Amino acid sequence: MTTTANPTTSPAAQPPAVVLELDNVRREFDDGHVLALRGVSMKIHDGEFVAIMGASGSGKSTMLSLLGALDVPSSGAISFRGQNVAELTDLATFRAHNIGFVFQAFHLMPTLNAIENVQVPMFEMPWTVRERQRRARELLEAVGMSHRLDHMPTKLSGGERQRVAIARSLANEPSILLADEPTGNLDSRSAAQIMDLLHTVHAEKKNTIVLVTHDPAVASHADRIVTMKDGLILSDERTHRKSSEKSVS
Ligand SMILES: Nc1ncnc2c1ncn2[C@@H]1O[C@H](COP(=O)(O)OP(=O)(O)O)[C@@H](O)[C@H]1O
Ligand SMILES: [Mg+2]
Repeated sequence: MTTTANPTTSPAAQPPAVVLELDNVRREFDDGHVLALRGVSMKIHDGEFVAIMGASGSGKSTMLSLLGALDVPSSGAISFRGQNVAELTDLATFRAHNIGFVFQAFHLMPTLNAIENVQVPMFEMPWTVRERQRRARELLEAVGMSHRLDHMPTKLSGGERQRVAIARSLANEPSILLADEPTGNLDSRSAAQIMDLLHTVHAEKKNTIVLVTHDPAVASHADRIVTMKDGLILSDERTHRKSSEKSVS
């Protein structure tokens, strides 16, 4: 008897692995006077594209910094593929190998040109100069910047700077890409182009993307939208875009 299984359902019944998990994470500042996160628990799966939304001050950037091991919780635990991040001895190396960051203000090195900026994270890897240059050139080609390799950041538009920053974030082929308001400094046309680029990256690399935004149009690109309020998760929903492709679990 032939099967009537939904062809969009993955043949492998295994759900994607949990790549990042927050377990009752709190983050306080100023000796406990500011409660940026008040006990947040969440699992992020391999290959998910998650948008984090919420008003200014709701804890989005704090959460992203913790997910990327740029910061540590006041209490609670964060794990990466089942390993408690607090037990890692060298967070800088961990970040360099596993996580790419994209920021609203680009954070390019002003004294380095585009191809040099893309190579900055590669110094953590055992690659030769020639290899670094080749990889940086390929990454800049992939983000549509092959005609701007030698340009300094000040000679680039906002959208172009963010393309360079995205190329840099992919330098070491991280499995996780964290982006904090990546379109926040861009006009709507450049913002749409950057979102298209992030989509292409996600489709090609099959990496996990967590993107902070307060723009619903930007968030609508994600598979899942987590909304924060006052340091807590207010809602956590699958978006319509991918819901039809999800298997029932
Ligand atoms: N380094 C810090 N020192 C003191 N307070 C901070 C610090 N970082 C964030 N906060 C506070 O924590 C809360 C959450 O901030 P943040 O995560 O940046 O929010 P969002 O990114 O959603 O705008 C805010 O009240 C903010 O002022
Ligand atoms: Mg923020």
